[in-house]
Amino acid sequence: MIAIIRGFLRQFGGIMSIQWYPGHMHKAQKQIKELLPDIHIIIEVLDARLPYSSDNPMIARLRGEKPCIKILNKSDLADPAITEQWLAYLEQEQGVKAYALCSEKTGEVRTLTDLCRSMLPAKEKSIRAIHALIMGIPNVGKSTLINIMTGRTIAKTGNEPAVTKGQQKINLGNGIILFDTPGMLWPKVENENSGYRLAASGAIKDTAMDYDDVGFFAADYLLKAYPEQLKARYQLELLPASELELLEAIGKKRGCLGGGGRVDLVKVSRLLLTDFRAGILGRISLETPEMIAKEKVELEIYLAEKTSKKKERLKKFKNKRKKH
Ligand code: G4P
Repeated sequence: MIAIIRGFLRQFGGIMSIQWYPGHMHKAQKQIKELLPDIHIIIEVLDARLPYSSDNPMIARLRGEKPCIKILNKSDLADPAITEQWLAYLEQEQGVKAYALCSEKTGEVRTLTDLCRSMLPAKEKSIRAIHALIMGIPNVGKSTLINIMTGRTIAKTGNEPAVTKGQQKINLGNGIILFDTPGMLWPKVENENSGYRLAASGAIKDTAMDYDDVGFFAADYLLKAYPEQLKARYQLELLPASELELLEAIGKKRGCLGGGGRVDLVKVSRLLLTDFRAGILGRISLETPEMIAKEKVELEIYLAEKTSKKKERLKKFKNKRKKH
């Protein structure tokens, strides 16, 4: 029952128990706008497990015709077949260069710098210092990537408003200057599922979300998309039908119990999410291009209905006032 209510509320955007602090957004956006005229290429680091949900919509709006490389990082954790679908989708639909990477693999990262130069328009190919803006959501692996590109440990530009050190300019010494920006999330994630996926991946601070709510989301998705991995990891012979039953079954097996011997849903959700984030469940992607296309249509219908209901209410209100 709880699961049904949660599913219903989630579907219709009634709750979103994930709240991150968007206060630094305006400043960050302004800084990026100011910087863009001097930038030759944008490197956007996405999470290969959720390339759509980890893609900052602001970049698409601001970048214009500038060349853009989308790195699908942490590809060692993502479903390889789905990563292939995303690479093809991004190149065909968005006209960007998409590249799957594991930022902990030194060789793969180093090829990136050659890629940057090769993507510049002919008139800019001979410039001495390529200015590359690098950005990505918190925890996507941007610092790891930069450290490998530079061959040394560079201080992290903070992910949180309190630790933001602003932009960093890093000379790679090979004709590329990186402009690093703080890991950034945007204030309004229109697609509710994207919010849950960001939370499941670890991009949103754990203190800003309800573990069990995100756990329900993950359990629901994994049941449908990766049942065999769940069976193998938690030694379940048969999979239950609902996410609540799944969490209870895992909780019983793994001793995530609370008062009265009942399964503690927060504890078991934490366990499931930790396993997912570390890749212990296997290589898993949280979204496919096909799923996103469907969700976009659903979202448009939902938003259109919401607008028309609002208009209707306003009309009724105005009519009422006229009568009085
Ligand atoms: P950020 O600057 O974008 O915020 O991310 P950062 O490089 O600090 O990386 C965040 C975590 O992700 C680190 O783990 C890092 O080792 C891991 N990571 C980075 N790139 C990859 C990758 O390609 N594959 C995998 N599997 N992991 C990667 P951590 O230090 O353990 O941090 P946390 O997981 O405890 O947050």
